[in-house]
This record gives sequence, structure tokens and C-alpha cells, in this order.
Amino acid sequence: MQTFAFRALLSAAILTSCSSSPPPQPHKSATRKQAFGKTAAGQGVDLYTLSNGAGMEVSITTYGGIVTSIKVPDRTGNSADVVLGFDSLDGYLKEHPYFGAMIGRYGNRVGKGLFTLNGVEYKLARNNGENHLHGGLVGFDKVVWKAGGAESLELSYTSKDGEEGYPGNLDVKVTYSLTTDNALRIDYFATTDKETVVNLTNHSYFNLAGHGEGDVLGHEVTVQADRFTPVDSGLIPTGELRPVEGTPFDFRQARRIGERIEQKDEQLIRGKGYDHNFVLNNQGGTLALAARVKEPRTGRVMEVHTTEPGLQFYTGNFLDGSITGKGGKRYDQRYGFCMETQHYPDSPNKPSFPPVVLKAGEQYKTTTIYKFSVE
Ligand code: BGC
Repeated sequence: MQTFAFRALLSAAILTSCSSSPPPQPHKSATRKQAFGKTAAGQGVDLYTLSNGAGMEVSITTYGGIVTSIKVPDRTGNSADVVLGFDSLDGYLKEHPYFGAMIGRYGNRVGKGLFTLNGVEYKLARNNGENHLHGGLVGFDKVVWKAGGAESLELSYTSKDGEEGYPGNLDVKVTYSLTTDNALRIDYFATTDKETVVNLTNHSYFNLAGHGEGDVLGHEVTVQADRFTPVDSGLIPTGELRPVEGTPFDFRQARRIGERIEQKDEQLIRGKGYDHNFVLNNQGGTLALAARVKEPRTGRVMEVHTTEPGLQFYTGNFLDGSITGKGGKRYDQRYGFCMETQHYPDSPNKPSFPPVVLKAGEQYKTTTIYKFSVE
């Protein structure tokens, strides 16, 4: 695994050191593998680092498919790690708010942890008050994935029939690829042997100024959504698709995160800020721009492209400074934001929402791209 495309980078590096200008750009992605420790049960965990030879580096661990770091340059070429996380596996083994994690079998909430499929009621693990959140007590973020792949990192995991209450054996594969234009592409695949529900996403907390470098309130956000799904006091969608027009949820033009976040708006109060699913304008299942975020001080820009119909925009409202992350940085309230591409929360109980049912013999496939640049 260490050797993947690493040789390509190595030979390019040798070429660079032997020749005079202009140096050839090693525009091939390379992968490095290192041991990252062991789980409490003694399972070995690895850390893979993809680098694209164009200034971007991403690390992913086989524990929970967690993206532990994303290093990208700012407008002056200075690289910073723009996601929250921990230096070592120990941090991730403790309770934490899904930093960088691969989320499944069902991303976000299922009301009361209950849903019915073909007349059978399924009871899911309840781990968020009376609700089920992000796959339950031991979701996909807390299992060790099998690694493979060549230029991309391929993680796979089989979720057993009945795991966290879900029906069907689910074979999941997630590939992480780094492209030469500074994009991290995540492809999600799944198949089942029995009808089930699936909603996979990634839970990275971004701070484009660099993790731990203050709050994200100055980031300028655009979301391609005319509507969002308002929630009840338990953050379960009511079923309404509400126009963003005239509300603090209107991000159709770039707006600073902090501009309206403290407004006395019932939805903002319920979420303690933004913690809502946006109904993306592209409902066609094709890859399209969902959101764009710019951090004005460093000039870093992130675009989110997805095939998914929804985007959970969460502004780290529940962070409270009690977590110390990478390099001893403390993560206070709103020090990171998440853009979780997904189907809408509680879809198994909302027949009017785009369906999340996967039947035996069908292929689940979604793609999300986080593309970085500077302005
Ligand atoms: C949810 C938040 C939750 C956070 C961390 C987000 O996806 O919408 O309500 O606090 O994940 O668990």
C-alpha cells in the first residue's frame, strides 16, 4: 500500500532535484501509510495520507473513515490544516462530535429512532435524546474499515443485519481521491441483501483560516438552495419545505455566517445557530455545485459539489471549548462549520422527502467533492 503512486512522486522528486528549471510538477497523487494505534479491542488502525503534488494533502484513518487533516495553501501559498480533529487515535476513540467522520448507516436524525419498511417497524439505537443520530451508538464513525485501492484510498465495511437496529447486511465502500486541482472527491457505494435505508455523509468541521484559528463567523457562504427543512424542538424536520426568501437561511447570495446567526428567529434558536438541511436546487442526482465558502483573510475558498439533494449546514453550535484538538488548540463554539451532503433528516418517516430506501440488488452511489482554491 505504501508504494501506491508514491513511486511516481518519488521519481518526480528525484527528477526535480537532478534537473534545472523549470521543475516538472509531480501531478500524480501519492499515498503514504502509517500505523495510527489500536482500538480498545486491540484492532490495528492506520492513517493514510494522500498528496497531489500540487500543494494539497489529506489524511484519513481507517478508524471511522475519519478525515483527520486537510492541508491547503492560502493566497500567499501558506499551507494550513483546515479541519478540526485530534493528533492521535486516542482523541477519536473518546466521545467527540463526529470530527471528520464517515457517517452511516443513516446520516443525521431519525425521529424517535423508529421507522417502518414493508409493514415492519424497526427500532434503531437512540443516542440523541429520544432520537437516533448519525447511525447510533456505534455508527460507521466508530468501526475499523478495511483499506485498499491504488491511487485512491478505498475503505470498505460490512454492516451486519440488525446492527444498530437496521435491516439487511450492508456492504459499504467509500473512496477518497485527491485530484490535481486541489479537490477531495468522496464516492460512496453500498449494496444490501435486504431492503434497508441508507444515507452516508462526511462530518468534517472546516475552518478555512486553519483549525483552532478562531470562529467561522466571518466566512462568506453561498448555498444553492431556495428552500430548507425547518425543524421541531428536537431538530426533526416538520416536513415543510420552507422558502429561504426573507429568512436568515437565504444564502443565495454570499453572506457572512455571523451576519444573521443571532437573530431572534425560531429556527435559529432551535438549532442554537445554523443546524439545518437545505433543499438543494439540483434535485437531479447529477454532480452540481451545492455551496461555496470563502474566508476573506486568507483568501481560501471551498466549493462543495454533490449528487445529493440536501446539505446539512451546521455551524458548530454545540462546541463549547471543552475539546482540545490538534496542536493543543481549543475548539470553542462555532470554531468550525460542517457541510454534510445528504438526503434530508428523518426521510424514513417522511414519504414526501426524496426516498432513502435501498433494495436488494440495487446499487447506492453518491459523490461529493470539496474543492479548494484561493481568491
Ligand atoms: C447535527 C447536529 C449535531 C452535530 C454533531 C450535526 O450533523 O445536525 O445537531 O450536534 O452533527 O453531532
